[in-house]
Amino acid sequence: MNFRLTALLAVLPLAFVAVPSVASAADAAAGKAIFDANCSSCHGVSGKGDGPVGAALNPPPRNFTIGDFAFDPDGNGAKGEDTDLILVIQNGAMKYGGSPLMAPWPTLNEAQVNDIVAHIRSLKTGDAPE
Ligand code: HEC
Repeated sequence: MNFRLTALLAVLPLAFVAVPSVASAADAAAGKAIFDANCSSCHGVSGKGDGPVGAALNPPPRNFTIGDFAFDPDGNGAKGEDTDLILVIQNGAMKYGGSPLMAPWPTLNEAQVNDIVAHIRSLKTGDAPE
C-alpha cells in the first residue's frame, strides 16, 4: 500500500464525523411515517396535494412534487427554505397570510418537524412551471 493511500484512509473517517448538519441529522424515513399519518389526507402520500381531503380545498394544499412554496416566515426574501417550512408547520399558514386549513402542529417536536422537512424535500420530482 503506498503512502498516499494510507494517508487517505487515515483521514477518511474524520470526513464523516467532522461536519454534522441539520440535513444529515434529519431522518426522511421517520418523516415519511409522520407525514403519511398526519399530512397525507390533504397533501397526498406522493405530496401532490391530492389527498382525499386536500382535493376539495381552496387554496389547494401545496404540491410538494414541484416544490412551489408560497411563504417566507423568516422574512429573508427566499420562500420555501427549511426554516420557512419548519415555521409554517409549527405555526400554521394563517400566521403568514395563508389558509387556516394548514393548521399549526404544536404536538410535533423539533426533531419530528426536521424529519418531515427532509421527507418533503425527497418528494420533489421536478420544477414549478415558470
Ligand atoms: C387539512 C388539510 C391539511 C393538512 C392535514 C396539512 N396541510 Fe399543509 N397545507 C394545507 C393547505 C391548504 C396549504 C396551502 C396553504 C395556503 O396556500 O394558504 C398547505 C401548505 C403547506 C405547506 C406549504 C408552505 C409554503 O410555504 O408554501 C407546508 C410545508 C405544509 N403544508 C406542510 C404540512 C405538514 C408537514 C403537514 C402535516 C404535519 C400538513 N401540512 C398537514 C393543508 C393541509
